[in-house]
Amino acid sequence: MELKLVQAQATDIDADAVVLLEWEDEPRPELQESLAELYTSGEVKGKPHEFTLIHHLAGFKSRRTLIAGAGKRDKFNPASLRKLAGAAARHLKGKGVATVAFALDDAASTPAHVTAVAEGAVLGLWEPDYLKTDKTEKHKPISAITIASSTHNASLIAALEKGRIVAEAANLTRDIAVEPPNLLTPLALADRARKMSEACGLSFEVLDQDRMRQLGMGALLGVAQGSSAPPALIIMRYTPTNPATKDHLGLVGKGVTFDTGGISIKPSEGMEKMKYDMAGGAAVIGAMQAIAHLKPSVAITGIVPAVENMPGSNAQRPGDIVTSLSGKTIEILNTDAEGRLILADAITYAKQLGCTHLVDTATLTGAIVVALGHTSSGVFTNNDDLLARWMSASSEAGENMWHMPLDDEYRDQLKTVYADIQNIGTRWGGACTAAMFLKEFAEETPWVHVDVAGTAWLDDAKPSLAKGPTGIPLGSFVNLAMNWR
Ligand code: BES
Ligand code: MN
Ligand code: ZN
Repeated sequence: MELKLVQAQATDIDADAVVLLEWEDEPRPELQESLAELYTSGEVKGKPHEFTLIHHLAGFKSRRTLIAGAGKRDKFNPASLRKLAGAAARHLKGKGVATVAFALDDAASTPAHVTAVAEGAVLGLWEPDYLKTDKTEKHKPISAITIASSTHNASLIAALEKGRIVAEAANLTRDIAVEPPNLLTPLALADRARKMSEACGLSFEVLDQDRMRQLGMGALLGVAQGSSAPPALIIMRYTPTNPATKDHLGLVGKGVTFDTGGISIKPSEGMEKMKYDMAGGAAVIGAMQAIAHLKPSVAITGIVPAVENMPGSNAQRPGDIVTSLSGKTIEILNTDAEGRLILADAITYAKQLGCTHLVDTATLTGAIVVALGHTSSGVFTNNDDLLARWMSASSEAGENMWHMPLDDEYRDQLKTVYADIQNIGTRWGGACTAAMFLKEFAEETPWVHVDVAGTAWLDDAKPSLAKGPTGIPLGSFVNLAMNWR
């Protein structure tokens, strides 16, 4: 995708289509005449995501003009513009339009708005169809996006670049997350991370099964042993040239390339969706790519424990007791509660590598989907300061997060006489007991856990986004890193 910023009037732009923002209840004076009928009939009201495509609008150089409802001016912000840009781009695709220009009014010519348009459009145009062999639908894709603003300066150019970097990283996350589980094995996931790291100068390492055995990662290896696909622990390191702090941020993402449940096998209905059980890991890989390009001033290590959870003849059983890297013993009561097991060892390893602050993300529980639906990710923490940083990073990214409780009482559900901890609680509060399990391994290190089981995948397309992987919480990761002081 070619993306550029120009200083121009909407009427002077030579493109296949120009997108014009239309505020609710504020008909544009310069269009009163040419759009008279559309205004009086109520066809153009400026309501959010109302689109009207006009060919050869009088006074405009472009072949088409898309009047894009932006809603009420006082409710408009970069997050709503991001969605509007995505929806507008999706509205125009498949209509023989190759070049699109977004005309920003004075009110929307700030760096945050420019980032939002670049990000929204690039995210909006992504599709999950890379394995379709019939490419006729795509014969003329949108190949260039221009943002026309009333001013032109270095901060707007940097803003455009930030939007492009974040959206391309999110699309890398989505490319990885959409890959089917026969193709994206743990080693293939490690390979995607290696290619990304080599391309953008991150240091990269994978721990294989033997190395993990030497280190004593019994919790991770217990999950992996039911599959013929070997596991991998993926490590990507970013080192700032001018660190502003001694802090070292660890980003950890669940990388279960397929979750059958293991011996505690899942029902077959809907099981195919468990190919996205590595969406957290994919978000960490994408975030590391954006971080490598945007160069924050804090050290960051991305860690992805990658395994396949299968019920092979060597699979772990309910009743097994494993010794984790931390030394703590875990009684496995349900082999489908596997995410927390691999994350336990990854979190301990992150601490051994010197991470001072940890954020993990995982499609961890069905319970978080019951609690929050598909609208918000669930956030758990042992540290209010890190939580505050996370919440502000995520609101800036337009990713909805909801702070969930983690009272000590949840720990009671994980007690067993046979080991230090068991891997499931009761039926109730399942997202909270899962988080409590992870907290046991984060110990005193400031830590935030983000359960994205309900938000990392869209079952149906939205106006601004294709169905399939969303990339969440990549935007929050990037802002957390960029705002770190
Ligand atoms: N990967 C699943 C959680 C999940 C469910 C993700 C739905 C996305 C959509 C996780 O490994 C799992 O199976 N969790 C169990 C835990 C239970 C056995 C305590 C669950 O949520 O049912
Ligand atoms: Mn599971
Ligand atoms: Zn899982």
